[in-house]
Amino acid sequence: MTVVKNICCIGAGYVGGPTCAVLAYKSPDIKVTIVDLSEARIAAWNSDNLPIYEPGLDEVVFACRGKNLFFSTDVDAAIQEADLIFVSVNTPTKKSGMGAGMAADLAYVESATRRIAEVAKSPKIVVEKSTVPCRTAQSMRTILEANSTSEIHFDILSNPEFLAEGTAIKDLLNPDRVLIGALQTESGIEAQNALVDVYTHWVPKERVITTNLWSSELSKLAANAMLAQRISSINALSAICEATGADVDEVAFACGKDTRLGSKFLKASVGFGGSCFQKDILNLVYLSTQLNLPEVAAYWQQVVIMNEYQKKRFVRNIISTLFNTITNKKIAVLGFAFKKDTGDTRESAAITLIKDFIQENARVAIYDPKVEAEQIYMDLSEPGVVDTQKQLEKNIQICQSAYEAADDADAVVIVTEWDEFRDDQLDYEKIYAGMKKPAFLFDGRLLVNAAKLRQIGFKVSVIGKNELAGTA
Ligand code: NAD
Ligand code: UDX
Repeated sequence: MTVVKNICCIGAGYVGGPTCAVLAYKSPDIKVTIVDLSEARIAAWNSDNLPIYEPGLDEVVFACRGKNLFFSTDVDAAIQEADLIFVSVNTPTKKSGMGAGMAADLAYVESATRRIAEVAKSPKIVVEKSTVPCRTAQSMRTILEANSTSEIHFDILSNPEFLAEGTAIKDLLNPDRVLIGALQTESGIEAQNALVDVYTHWVPKERVITTNLWSSELSKLAANAMLAQRISSINALSAICEATGADVDEVAFACGKDTRLGSKFLKASVGFGGSCFQKDILNLVYLSTQLNLPEVAAYWQQVVIMNEYQKKRFVRNIISTLFNTITNKKIAVLGFAFKKDTGDTRESAAITLIKDFIQENARVAIYDPKVEAEQIYMDLSEPGVVDTQKQLEKNIQICQSAYEAADDADAVVIVTEWDEFRDDQLDYEKIYAGMKKPAFLFDGRLLVNAAKLRQIGFKVSVIGKNELAGTA
C-alpha cells in the first residue's frame, strides 16, 4: 500500500495555492511544497500579502506555512522529494496556431510533465489537477513512460478541481465531491487509493468518487459546460422577460423550486466571466469538432454565443436609454472583478462593457474594492498600443469609492455583485444627489431594489425586468 508523505504542487496559482494550502492544513503528517517559476508569485506567497484574495485563505496559509507548507521556486528539488505531484499549471485558450481561440494550450502541462520526467529519481504519482481536454493524461503518460526505468515508475491520475473563486476555502474544506480518475490497472488503482487516503484526512469517504481516467477528465469539462449553460439559459430568458413584463427573478424562483432543476446557478446577469467557463466550453467545442461531432460542437458553442449576446445587449440598452449617445458622458462602473469576493478579473464582463463604452467615447469611472489599478489598465489595454496607460487615462478614471465614481456621472452601472453595492449598504440618496439628472442606474446583477431607488429619483433598468413588469 502506497502512503503519501510528501506532496509537491507545480503551479502556485488560484488553484494550486488554495488547494494545497488546505491539504496541508488538514494533513499535518504530510509535507506540502508548492512551486512556481514565477519568483514574484512565490515571494508573495511567502509574505504577509498573499498574491490572491480569497476569504479565509490567510488564516489557512498562516496556520501551516513554515510547518508543513512551503512555497518555493526550486521546482526540481520539490519534484525529487515528493511521492505525489499535482500538476496545477495554467491551460489557457490557445492564442495562435492550430485550434487558436478554441483549444486549450497544453504547453505548460507538457513542460511541467517533462520536468518531472527529467529530474525524478524515485517513483512518483503524477496528478493532473489542471483542467485539460479528455485524453491529455495519455500524452503525459507517454512522456513519463519514455523516461521510466526499473527503479522509477510513474502513475498518472486525474483529479480535477471544482472550487469556485470567492468561496474556494469553503469549497475545499467541504467539497460536494472529490473526483479521482485512474487507469484501471493494479498500479493505477493503488495510486488512486493513495490519493483517496490523502483526501479522506478531511473529506467523508462517500464524497470521494473514483472513476476511470477519461471519465474524470471529461467530467470536469462537462460540469463547467452545464453550469455555464444554466446561466446562458436564464440570460436568454431574461431577454424575453424584458420584452414581455415577466420578471426573471420570479421565473428563476418558480423553475428552481422543481427539485429536478434546483435553485442554484439561475441568477441572470450581465454575462458569466472567470477564467474557466468560456475556456472550458471552447475546449469542449474543439474536442467535439476534432471527434467529427459538429452538432455537438454547435450545441455547446451556443452557450458562449448567448453570453456574448447578453453583454452586447446590456451595452445596447445603456446607449439607447441614454438618448442613443454616450459621447462625453460619465459612466460610473461599480465592480471590475468577474464576481464578488475575488480580485480576479479574467474574462470579466466589465472588460467587454468598458471597452465598448470607450469605443463610444464615454468617460468611464471605475471602482472595485479588490482590483488594483494596474490590473485594470492591463485588462483594458489593446495590443500594439504604445503608452497604453496614458491613452486610457483620457477615457478612464480609477476611483477609491463608489461615491467618487458616481460623482457628476450620467449613469451608474452595477457590473459585479459586491455586497457593498447593495441598497442597504451604499447610500444611494448621496449617490443620487451627486449625479447629473436624469440619473440613470443599470443593474447588471439584480442586486438592488429598483422600486426603492426609483423612489429616490433614479431611472432604473434591471436585467430581466421591465419597469412595467406585472402591469396589464
Ligand atoms: P494560474 O494562472 O493562476 O496559475 C498557474 C501557475 O502555474 C502560474 O503561477 C504559472 O507561473 C505556473 N506555471 C506554469 N507552468 C509552470 C511550470 N512548468 N513550472 C512551474 N510553474 C508553472 O491558473 P489557475 O487559475 O490556478 O488554474 C490552473 C488550472 O486549474 C487551469 O487548468 C484551470 O483551468 C484549472 N481550474 C481553475 C479554477 C479557477 O477557479 N481558477 C478552478 C478549477 C480548475
Ligand atoms: C467555476 C465553477 O463554478 C467551478 O466549479 C470551477 O471549478 C471553476 O469555474 P468560478 O468561475 O470561480 O467557478 O465562479 P462561478 O461562481 O462559477 O461564477 C462564474 C461566473 O458566472 C461569474 O461571472 C458569476 O458572476 C456568473 N454567474 C454565476 C451568474 O451570472 N449567475 C449565476 O447564477 C452564477
